[in-house]
Amino acid sequence: MIDVILGLQWGDEGKGKIVDYFAPNYDIIARFQGGPNAGHTLYVDGQKIVLHQIPSGVFHNHTTNLIGSGVVLDAVTLKRECESVAKFGADVRKNMFISKRTHLILPTHRALDKASELQKGDGKIGSTLKGIGPAYMDKTGRNGLRVGDLLDKNFTTNYIKLRLKHQRLLDNHNFNEDITAWEEEFFEAVEFLRSLNIVDGEYFINEKIRAGKKVLAEGAQGSMLDIDFGTFPFVTSSNTITAGVMSGLGVAPQLVRDVIGITKAYCTRVGGGPFPTELHDATGEELRKAGNEFGATTGRPRRCGWIDLVALNYACMINGVTKVVMTKADVLDKFTPLQVCTAYNVNGVETDHIPFDICKANIEPVLQSFPGWNTDTTVCKTENDLPETMRTYIQFINERIGAPVKWVSNGPGRDQIVPL
Ligand code: GDP
Ligand code: IMO
Ligand code: MG
Repeated sequence: MIDVILGLQWGDEGKGKIVDYFAPNYDIIARFQGGPNAGHTLYVDGQKIVLHQIPSGVFHNHTTNLIGSGVVLDAVTLKRECESVAKFGADVRKNMFISKRTHLILPTHRALDKASELQKGDGKIGSTLKGIGPAYMDKTGRNGLRVGDLLDKNFTTNYIKLRLKHQRLLDNHNFNEDITAWEEEFFEAVEFLRSLNIVDGEYFINEKIRAGKKVLAEGAQGSMLDIDFGTFPFVTSSNTITAGVMSGLGVAPQLVRDVIGITKAYCTRVGGGPFPTELHDATGEELRKAGNEFGATTGRPRRCGWIDLVALNYACMINGVTKVVMTKADVLDKFTPLQVCTAYNVNGVETDHIPFDICKANIEPVLQSFPGWNTDTTVCKTENDLPETMRTYIQFINERIGAPVKWVSNGPGRDQIVPL
């Protein structure tokens, strides 16, 4: 069987921490999409670590970690990450496997990402500039190179051919930054990548499942950044939703058991695009401060706002969410009253649906007020320790999103989570 953990908002919901928390119950942790645009923060022995491409189960000795076919992989970032997790005793040569079908991010993909964003000007996506969009374009455009191609003696020739194609595109963009240094790093990292465990990911995982092993699929980004169902075009280039697990790992849908959706107790977004509950005032600033809302990958300040039940309900529907984890509940400890968005007012008409033209529509959130708890919840261990006002807040959310909050995360630490 496979359980899934994925983000229900615009990313950074705390997936890394939650995957690390659940990892002891699983044999395999598998990333199924995205790439180094992700930044998943974990605390191991009190020390902060941010993972971009390595699955968040890497610090548990008994788990096997798989980078699935749906991921786009940057060899340079991976090499760096492998070196940094080794310092914490994780041995990727023993417990990490990479699918041959995983597409490679090339230095020119990163250059193309930058060139494309520059050309968009004010309409830019706010990409992490890791080359994600161009790498997925080469996958769907049937040009890309895959991890399995590294084992082919013609790899360098094929690389040069693709690079020439990219150069023509870069010339069209008038982009002439020198990428020689990136390329040198890339070829060094490719050598390293060849020395890792490269497998037929789809056989690898299905054989393990048949042998009774339990899989946890780890999502990156969030449902509202999904290429098909997110706030297009302000999205990432992969399927971040449950459907991406099947295509990204090569597994059948009937194997999926629980879909565990992660939401913050409020909401954030980094990069451009619509964010109906965004706060542009002092409260937004206070949320950013209290939640330390700065990007784990780019360091950019995250936009902050109230929890959006229209978007959450939508995400639960698209993903088939069975259980929810509410993270960063402690960040709201000092905020009162709290606001919850229950509907959108779109050009004067109230709706509880995500509008197709969310990027253009004039949206006012319909807010319902709740009393805050004004209590330090970071010390809570059991449901009974949680303030009554927090339980009322959660109960209301449960009713509106059609899936129950089963855990409340009340701090970044491994043990700061309260089951309900
Ligand atoms: P991810 O991308 O979904 O894994 O999330 P990020 O790691 O980008 O961002 C989540 C941030 O919130 C990290 O800095 C975590 O350490 C932190 N975090 C996670 N859960 C909690 C929580 O319950 N309370 C607080 N205060 N911080 C948390
Ligand atoms: P995790 O896994 C938050 C956002 C970028 C940008 C848009 C497209 O840590 O939750 P891309 O680099 O994919 O071309 O960027 O998506 N974005 C994320 N926002 N968390 C992430 O990952 C993100 N990955 C991409 O900011 O708006
Ligand atoms: Mg993140």
